Amino acid sequence: MDVASADGASADGTLAETVPGSTADAEFAPRTLRIGDIELASPVVLAPMAGITNTAFRRLCREYGAGLYVTEMVTSRALVERSPKSMRIIHHEPYETPRSVQVYGVDPETIGQAVRMLVEEDRADHIDLNFGCPVPKVTRKGGGSALPWKLDLFTSIVRTAVREASRGDIPLTVKMRKGIDAEHLTYLDAGRIARDAGVAAITLHGRTTADLYSGTADWDAIARLKESLGDTVPVLGNGDIFAAEDAVEMMRTTGCDGVVIGRGCQGRPWLFGDLQNALAGRPERIRPSLGEVADAVCTHGEYLAEYYADEFYGVRDLRKHIAWYFKGYPVGGELRRSMAMVSSLAELRELLAGLDRAQPYPGADAEGSRGRTTRPKKPHLPEGWLDSRYMEDSRKAELALAELDVSGG
Ligand SMILES: Cc1cc2nc3c(=O)[nH]c(=O)nc-3n(C[C@H](O)[C@H](O)[C@H](O)COP(=O)(O)O)c2cc1C
Repeated sequence: MDVASADGASADGTLAETVPGSTADAEFAPRTLRIGDIELASPVVLAPMAGITNTAFRRLCREYGAGLYVTEMVTSRALVERSPKSMRIIHHEPYETPRSVQVYGVDPETIGQAVRMLVEEDRADHIDLNFGCPVPKVTRKGGGSALPWKLDLFTSIVRTAVREASRGDIPLTVKMRKGIDAEHLTYLDAGRIARDAGVAAITLHGRTTADLYSGTADWDAIARLKESLGDTVPVLGNGDIFAAEDAVEMMRTTGCDGVVIGRGCQGRPWLFGDLQNALAGRPERIRPSLGEVADAVCTHGEYLAEYYADEFYGVRDLRKHIAWYFKGYPVGGELRRSMAMVSSLAELRELLAGLDRAQPYPGADAEGSRGRTTRPKKPHLPEGWLDSRYMEDSRKAELALAELDVSGG
């Protein structure tokens, strides 16, 4: 597939198309985003997504545009124990620079050890801490997005991680949700604490634990966080960026310093080319034909097979991406089903050859929201968790379990 070059322009011009109305981009010029010593050519971060943002997907996205490409989360305990899965998650290929690793944990000491390991063994150029996980089995024990409610524990984790990261001059950032629910917001306190602890940037997903992936992300909260922290630390906005224009709009309306994109790039790695163009004030957008999408799918499958060093495993992992890639394109149900059950690269290529490659980009049908959506749900929390903003010693054993239950390596 023809891919956009690093400056966002298509290699031979076949994918880039000028979209009417996007000239407004030219009036918008974001400041350069720096995360510690890392200066990003475009203020764009690929959101960590477990099961998605492995080396293969990051490599594909990186070919379309500049940004910071974060690993899937790895749990601090699994990392310290050097589980094979966690070592694979943090592995980077030589062309992957800067290397960005996301760590999830609940215990300051174990997180400190995990960060120390990454720094001492020179395995990352940037480390992000995940405080946004809304999964009930994690929050039920006080982990993930329930954790910032406990001010002392949150402070201790972030301070410890920043201290360990600073030994190697590695910038450490945090990613969080707004809070537990509308009555129990944590992001303003957590933002201040993280800033005072010396983090290099703060990402806010504009939803609470209770929101899960429902409704629309609250960009006003991103604006409020930016307003409360001013220029003391970069604030990155996250939630519901499904097109390059959404990123421009978020940065313009919230004043945030950069954007973090998750579901919007599922099945659309070329979004990073669009984002780079839009945020540089250029009107070109990538509008792939069906043939070009097929080529991207094939490349993704090849990269996954390489990543897992196992063709069957790689192609099986590709299956979940198939529906996202072909959203809005005229691809028959039977072909879709066959592709979602594919078990070798040869079979994949054969099925892709059955597509009408000349079909043009379908427009709105391929756009809009995609990926995970849910209904809101009352958060599962440990008994009495909301009664105090400080961590009782009696809870520590239960909290430790909040790390064992997540699949992060
Ligand atoms: C499949 C999936 C896996 C995710 N895994 C992680 C993760 O490992 N770490 C994390 O901080 N957030 C994770 N998230 C949340 C995203 O990073 C992001 O905050 C969220 O999807 C909202 O952004 P979006 O609207 O651009 O998708 C995940 C989201 C999805 C859909």
